[in-house]
Amino acid sequence: MTINNTELEKYLVEFKRDLHMNPELSNEEYETTQKIKEALKSQNITILDLPLQTGVIAEIKGSTPGPTIALRADIDALPILEQADVAFPSTNKGIMHACGHDFHTSVILGAAFLLKQVEEKLAGTIRFIFQPAEETSHGAKAILETGALDDVDAIFGLHNDPTLRVGELGTKHGVLTAAVDRFEIKVTATGAHAAKPEEGNDPIIITSHIISALQTIISRNVAPREAAVLSITQIHSGNTWNVIPDSAYLEGTVRTFSRTERAFIEKRMQQVLHGIGVTFDANIEFFWHPGPPSVDNTPEWADFAFEIGDKTGYTTKTLEASSIGEDFALYQEKIPGVFVMIGSGGPYDLHHPKFKIDDTALFPASQYFYELAVGALEKSNLK
Ligand code: NI
Repeated sequence: MTINNTELEKYLVEFKRDLHMNPELSNEEYETTQKIKEALKSQNITILDLPLQTGVIAEIKGSTPGPTIALRADIDALPILEQADVAFPSTNKGIMHACGHDFHTSVILGAAFLLKQVEEKLAGTIRFIFQPAEETSHGAKAILETGALDDVDAIFGLHNDPTLRVGELGTKHGVLTAAVDRFEIKVTATGAHAAKPEEGNDPIIITSHIISALQTIISRNVAPREAAVLSITQIHSGNTWNVIPDSAYLEGTVRTFSRTERAFIEKRMQQVLHGIGVTFDANIEFFWHPGPPSVDNTPEWADFAFEIGDKTGYTTKTLEASSIGEDFALYQEKIPGVFVMIGSGGPYDLHHPKFKIDDTALFPASQYFYELAVGALEKSNLK
């Protein structure tokens, strides 16, 4: 069944609103996965048989062999109670598509429908990745482990950007997002009566030294021309007023824009914590949980993304790097490609309970990814 563009646009907006009303958390996207599969089947688009609990990979093969291009969307929602002023609010209380992954899914689905209509003219393969669990940074890894991307020559992904107007599109050469790491610190000391501190070694005092000392890594060790963030976001210790506790727990995140800074900050944290442990005679354990590295765009493909943006009527912008994280970065460690930000109109930022997307941004983005995929196959065939 061939759908004309007016019908397709209407269908995609409906599809997105349905996802918006039925959001699912990371790795629990069962209904969402089912809906994507049904939509793909309605157009006879091949779904790859892979051992994925949630998420879908589909494929369109052209009439002649050639390179393989991948288009990637993410499909999961967030544990946020929706307060957005929309006619189609979430019906799963406490869960919300507050990052617009419903939009990304619908954009790439639309591109797949458009590409299916011209499959005879394509020289090569286009693979569509509907990735689960982006918010927890587990999904890209699961997709890569299926091996379905082993032969991919170039990969393209998107995020909506409420700071850009509808009709604007942006990206940049090289690093676009931050590497996102999480850390935990456990201080084990000796508790005492609050009136007899000399009988113990107070973990709360130790914690206060940890907080100050760790911030000096950013202010005194990282060069001013480099950017990095170290945020301590949780502290737990003690439970009453007249007892010095025997332990403390801290958790936080580090955001960096280069491999060197990333490794350096982890090493400095270890050194500083070891020193504080020796100073106060306490056992301090440090746990570093690496998340995705930076989205790092191949300059040639970033230029190409701008070129297709101009061709499809977008106003293109070179963006600044952002301290948000995105596990699209894991694909780029293996495959050249580019991550593109598509204007979604605002005014509320990503992850805000009032976040909403201007749906007029949807179909032009599908057409953009259609043109990008067709152009990328042609470009790769010329190499
Ligand atoms: Ni997101």
